[in-house]
Amino acid sequence: MEETEQSQPPTDNSQQAIPYGKQNITQADIEAVTEALKSDYLTQGPKIKEFEEAFAKYVGSKYAVAVSNGTAALHLNALALDVKPGDKVITTPITFAASANCVRYCGGEVVFADIDPETYLLDINKVRDILEKDVNKEVKGIIPVDFAGRAVDLEAFRKLADEYGLWIIEDSCHSPGGYFTKANGEISTCGSGEFADLAIFSFHPVKHIASGEGGMITTNDEKLYHKLLMLRTHGITKDADSFQNTIDFAIGQPQTAHRSPLTAYPPWYMEMQMLGYNYRITDFQSALGLSQLQRADQGIIKRQEIAARYYEAFKDIPQIKDRNYESANHQPPTANSEKPIANSQNGHAHHLYVIEAKDRLGLYNYLREQKIFAQIHYIPCHLMPYYREQGWQEGDMPNAEKYYKNCISLPMFPTLGEEEQNFVIETISSFYLQ
Ligand SMILES: Cc1ncc(COP(=O)(O)O)c(C=O)c1O
Repeated sequence: MEETEQSQPPTDNSQQAIPYGKQNITQADIEAVTEALKSDYLTQGPKIKEFEEAFAKYVGSKYAVAVSNGTAALHLNALALDVKPGDKVITTPITFAASANCVRYCGGEVVFADIDPETYLLDINKVRDILEKDVNKEVKGIIPVDFAGRAVDLEAFRKLADEYGLWIIEDSCHSPGGYFTKANGEISTCGSGEFADLAIFSFHPVKHIASGEGGMITTNDEKLYHKLLMLRTHGITKDADSFQNTIDFAIGQPQTAHRSPLTAYPPWYMEMQMLGYNYRITDFQSALGLSQLQRADQGIIKRQEIAARYYEAFKDIPQIKDRNYESANHQPPTANSEKPIANSQNGHAHHLYVIEAKDRLGLYNYLREQKIFAQIHYIPCHLMPYYREQGWQEGDMPNAEKYYKNCISLPMFPTLGEEEQNFVIETISSFYLQ
């Protein structure tokens, strides 16, 4: 289930392997990293703030906190929102395990709710059913996931969360640049903080933006922002206005030793005020992320082109169910649709191209024989042995379990060339037509 860098074994004969996802490192990226490496800072330098500010602008949030990876981002969110033993948090079973695990890190209990079989996203009606039965108010929050790049309708989730006094963490790892359309017809960008309290992103190499390892938290909540900054770095603050110990203590000697009493804390002074972690990103990773961010829109345009080609190619193959353009917000692009400027024109960030395929194992093996390394996203999280031990079992999430039997993610990354796309399409067509 863990995503490897290119999800492909090494090969020795000539035909290039085609992974399901792949990073794109350009000369500009290399130069940006080299410049950071030559500077005075390797770790806590100026590139981090630059990356945070540029990313916040990209998704439309007030604040951004860069961290060491998406899992750390989720953990910090759960800490910032005070998840405690006994608290229950609802999430989807069709996600990477980290979306659920962050609750367990804090001793909370994960409550899985089934997916909508058409969008593969957390089904709001299933969430409502759980909340209606939560008479003791044990559920504290919801973690919807923009799975595969399709944006969750957070406006609807916010309304429901408000009825029950819950927080929302949007797991936007698959959806930088994605959006959904609000009831009033305007768009709401993934990670904007318009409806979710916090959102998280990953910069793992198979994601839209790569920084090696890396992650980002976005929010519009100033209090949570300041708490996250501290939690990211051991719970330490250097903000004199929030210091709790006295100036006398900080100076380390009685004030009488000075002619006039000191009114400021000495420059070395800092305080650890809560139990935090070292979840910092480095300066050179931020330089890479920042450089990649400049091409994020181009990447989405390429992804949309590939998605449109796949959709067209598979729509007449009866053994394939392709739901990539299902739901009102996500129409396939047309020849005259305007090119997106800042975001995906159809809302779907197309991180993954998932289809439901008859004889999935046969197709998967056939593709592998041709060195096309498709992937499966995801094995339902509630059926991982760890979560089975918590009491989850087969039959609990019928839609997710049915989806898992046939889902397969096809190669989808901006540098997937036309010839490679043709090869993928021809190979899949020939599997079903042979
Ligand atoms: C949906 C989702 N959430 C969280 C994560 C965790 O991100 P990271 O690998 O950066 O820790 C991932 C990455 O695989 C993911 O796909």
